[in-house]
Amino acid sequence: MGKIRAVITGIHAWVPEYRLTNTELSRMVDTSDEWIMQRVGIKERRILKEEGLGSSDLGEKAVKGLLEKTNTSPDEIELLICATVTPDMAFPATANIISEKAGIKNAFSFDMNAACSGFLFALQTGASFIETGKYKKVIVVGADKMSSITDYTDRTSCPLFGDASGAVLLEPGNGDYGIMDHIFYTDGSGQKYLHMKAGGSVKPASHETVDAREHYIYQEGQSVFKFAVVNMANVAAEIMERNKLKADDIAWLVPHQANLRIIDATGRRMGLSPEKVMINIQNYGNTTTATIPLCLWEYEKQLNKGDKLILAAFGGGFTWGSIYLKWAYDPV
Ligand code: UT7
Repeated sequence: MGKIRAVITGIHAWVPEYRLTNTELSRMVDTSDEWIMQRVGIKERRILKEEGLGSSDLGEKAVKGLLEKTNTSPDEIELLICATVTPDMAFPATANIISEKAGIKNAFSFDMNAACSGFLFALQTGASFIETGKYKKVIVVGADKMSSITDYTDRTSCPLFGDASGAVLLEPGNGDYGIMDHIFYTDGSGQKYLHMKAGGSVKPASHETVDAREHYIYQEGQSVFKFAVVNMANVAAEIMERNKLKADDIAWLVPHQANLRIIDATGRRMGLSPEKVMINIQNYGNTTTATIPLCLWEYEKQLNKGDKLILAAFGGGFTWGSIYLKWAYDPV
């Protein structure tokens, strides 16, 4: 018997209604549409405004839509992995809450945190369960309510992030299609450039931490940019080389959407023409774990069976990596 490979057999994503535009942001902080478009490439982002809703509510929408679209009963799902940096609460895992909300009762569920690389790390983890031969239906969902940790008084970070979710169904395939290879890295020395200062075990929430606005994203943008632009491009080139892929062989680059300049640099390093690069950062901003499934979902109708895709991400940690996959179905 040949090798079992995990195949993506369905994709769905969800974004909230509310559009936070650059015009509205420029009334909140000292910024402009021109600066944001030139430096990052974002026009608007979606925000989950309703009180009392969190990442699990975003995830629920993507997962329920996925089940419906793929004609899958919640009872068939054996494992659900949620990648997130904005869990509903420290525990239980947001994955458990999503499973409960989506009526998934026969699965075990857990969260993974690899920041903006979280979806890729979770996708490979889900794939590894499929490859054992024991699991037939696994859901991997990325869900982040970034607005819950974004400081809307800080102009250096508040234009960057948005809320969204995206989910894929993984099933076993005969080896010709699906997830072919992955290369992942982490470098803990990157922590100082991108983190949240308080609310964890080192510095639990207190009046002081709230007053000091320490429950928001802290980012030294330029330093992160320098690491991201080099490493995301390098790892994408590395996976091409390892799999003897030339630019012509690749149908699409599916990059994490943090900054248009980082995306462009990655595409150039791979020798790809710009029309082979999935881009929707202008509409959603950086939705952390949801960027890659959100792209796949928006471009699904342009994907054909056998298309070779390179997925690439870079995020807090630092974490970064790339997945090479062969798309398994034609547009429906
Ligand atoms: O997904 C997780 C990983 N994260 C990333 O990949 C993000 C990587 N970093 C970036 O994308 C970019 O560094 C940013 C978009 C965050 C910032 O762009 P930059 O080109 O690195 O700008 P900068 O931080 O060097 O700031 C340039 C100038 C500064 O003014 P001075 O010192 O030159 O007078 C900033 O104060 O732009 C100023 N600035 C702004 N001006 C208008 C910073 N933010 C804004 C703003 N509007 N929103």
